[in-house]
Amino acid sequence: MDRGLDGAIARLITAGEIKGKAGELTLVHTLGKIPASRVIVAGLGKQSQFNLDSVRRASAEACRFARLRAARRVATFVPGDGAGGIDADRAAQAVTEGAVLGLYRFRRHVSKEPEDGDVQEVVIVGSDEGLRGQLEKGSARGVVVAGAVAFARDMINEPANFMTPAIMADIARELARECGLELTVLERAQMRELGMGGLVGVSQGSHQDPRFIVLSYRGDPGSAAAVGLVGKGITFDSGGISLKPSEDMGDMKGDMAGGATVMATLRAVARLKPRINVTAVIPAAENLPGGRALKPGDVITAMNGKTIEIVNTDAEGRLILADALCWAVKNGLSPVLDVATLTGAVRVALGEVTVGVFSNNEELAAKVLAAASQAGERMWQMPMFEEYREQYKSDVADFKNTGGRYGGAITAAQFVGEFAGQVPWVHLDIAGTSLSSKEKGQVVKGATGIGVRTLINLVMDLAARA
Ligand code: BES
Ligand code: MN
Ligand code: ZN
Repeated sequence: MDRGLDGAIARLITAGEIKGKAGELTLVHTLGKIPASRVIVAGLGKQSQFNLDSVRRASAEACRFARLRAARRVATFVPGDGAGGIDADRAAQAVTEGAVLGLYRFRRHVSKEPEDGDVQEVVIVGSDEGLRGQLEKGSARGVVVAGAVAFARDMINEPANFMTPAIMADIARELARECGLELTVLERAQMRELGMGGLVGVSQGSHQDPRFIVLSYRGDPGSAAAVGLVGKGITFDSGGISLKPSEDMGDMKGDMAGGATVMATLRAVARLKPRINVTAVIPAAENLPGGRALKPGDVITAMNGKTIEIVNTDAEGRLILADALCWAVKNGLSPVLDVATLTGAVRVALGEVTVGVFSNNEELAAKVLAAASQAGERMWQMPMFEEYREQYKSDVADFKNTGGRYGGAITAAQFVGEFAGQVPWVHLDIAGTSLSSKEKGQVVKGATGIGVRTLINLVMDLAARA
């Protein structure tokens, strides 16, 4: 490019206009010197900090920058194997993920077409023909992975009147048909028969009927073993009788993000076809304060017979997860991972950057953290010391559904863990990270889709090791 432009980019570097900082974007008009009318020079940041996420970020930001300037076709260059310590296929995957996720927007309910139009095509150019196979493999995988994240974002961003438990089940049915997954959907009567007092109880205050959604991918039909992925599916969380304040309550349309995350993971897994069985379990309900709603002081019984005193009806996520984990354990799923927008406390503890990781099994937690690091998703393990348990002991039942303000993310996680029994289990609290108020790299405003890429990596790793 620089040669074609008679050294214009080198001159900009010498002049100090281009420094190469992460996030730096410079537009160079080519004035007919080369076929492309414009060149974007994107900074990749310090060499010592360069990694796959630098590529994702630069790709996302350059594509958005191009779109804002009405570009329809964007091309980028991926150098030969090992440049910057990154293989060409991984680089092509990161470029693709960055482009698709950085350009993502949710406009389903906006009548007006976007003024800046859409980028129609992203071309990845390699340094020689020998790289074609790797670039194609990487970009194909990037399309699957980013497509799954966009699928999760779409579900999370959808307003609660367009994303009820029944609609989540319809989406699961469509996914099952399209990807060849097995699907079971339980309705309220069957939940009652199974003793799912948590899910039935939480759903009682709403006219929207609950659903218990089970989606299975069978990539290893010879084996009975299957990994369980449980996702919180509260399609709207008003808090119930313990009503939330009205400020930002609308964000609670995203309280089914965990459910969307595990459905999106199965969507990608079904396309990547690893040799492993994976079952997604989504307890879905709306938490509203209707006339039949759970009340503080009520006692309910979870599927495993344990009784729970309701102290606060806004601590509803752990009640539906309790039943979902009982179901997962009873149906032999192992290990089991759950993903949930569970607590405001995790946002206090880890901010809007980092997912809280909680586990009863160090080996599994280490695998999840490794998968997260590979995905560039920030996750951090939290303590599970037994001393916290007494905070949610009840005088009138086996447990109460809150453990007080202090260590709220930990006591919530431990409460959920009570229902995992001896099965290796990891809980991801994404309440701080599921929504973003700003644009940065592949993250845009609204749903982030965090967790999807980590879970895809984890499933692929588990399959490769077996
Ligand atoms: N869905 C919320 C948690 C949440 C908060 C998600 C902020 C996303 C952003 C959850 O159901 C909830 O209300 N948790 C309560 C628990 C408390 C009553 C023990 C909370 O965190 O305040
Ligand atoms: Mn709540
Ligand atoms: Zn909730």
